Amino acid sequence: MTPDKLPQHVAIIMDGNGRWAKQHGLPRIEGHRRGADAVKRCLKAAQANGVTHLTLYAFSVENWNRPQSEVDALMDLLDRFLRDQLPELIKGEIRLRVIGRYRELPEKIQTRLREAEAATRHFSNYTLGLALNYGARTEIVDAAKAIAQAAQAGELNPDELDYATLRQHLYTRDMPDPDLVIRTSGESRLSNFLLLQSAYAEIYLSPVLWPDFDEAEFKNALAAYAARERRYGKTAEQLVH
Ligand code: IPE
Ligand code: IPE
Ligand code: MG
Repeated sequence: MTPDKLPQHVAIIMDGNGRWAKQHGLPRIEGHRRGADAVKRCLKAAQANGVTHLTLYAFSVENWNRPQSEVDALMDLLDRFLRDQLPELIKGEIRLRVIGRYRELPEKIQTRLREAEAATRHFSNYTLGLALNYGARTEIVDAAKAIAQAAQAGELNPDELDYATLRQHLYTRDMPDPDLVIRTSGESRLSNFLLLQSAYAEIYLSPVLWPDFDEAEFKNALAAYAARERRYGKTAEQLVH
């Protein structure tokens, strides 16, 4: 694939764990467990196919509204995932970046995340973004607060505020915008994921339930992306091929 047809940043809304479990006559948590295996596969597929940034939507600010037993099970799974995967991230030279409201996560998860981020901070070839307790509206509110405070302190002139400055206050300030957003399980919505950053992303809706997501489907998404024409408001004729 020519480099310009390869997305630099792929962001995935991993959906369908519950339905996968239901289809297999298993409890929802088993779907999440299989979902964690799919995450490992996907990470390998991204690296093998030259995608340098992968961001995975793992837990939204709205997901706290699920039954407490499911939330607890998800946090346990996340804890185990981080423990098991840290050596893999180091081996693969992948930098971990968490996006979302960190401090509202359970203490033990925060500790693991800090440890994993610190241990992988120096890697620059690959980045795994993990969206945890993430919501785009929350992110924008956090950015607006920081900007308002900077203005109040006289550090920023509101008249000079532009998107580049606003972007510096997003959780993803040190990541490129996603080129390709994938949502699995056949749903067609963004569910509060990277709303500003995805302004010009290509979207691939996959019918596959997340626990069944594999390299073949990842490649299907890359092929679909390569066939798209990103016009950014211009006419097709203006684009130089
Ligand atoms: C995605 O799968 C995982 C999370 C949102 C944490 P779901 O749990 O949403 O699966 P469905 O949508 O019920 O099938
Ligand atoms: C989106 O999935 C959030 C994550 C993948 C973490 P949901 O299953 O929570 O989204 P909705 O509720 O169907 O929109
Ligand atoms: Mg869902």
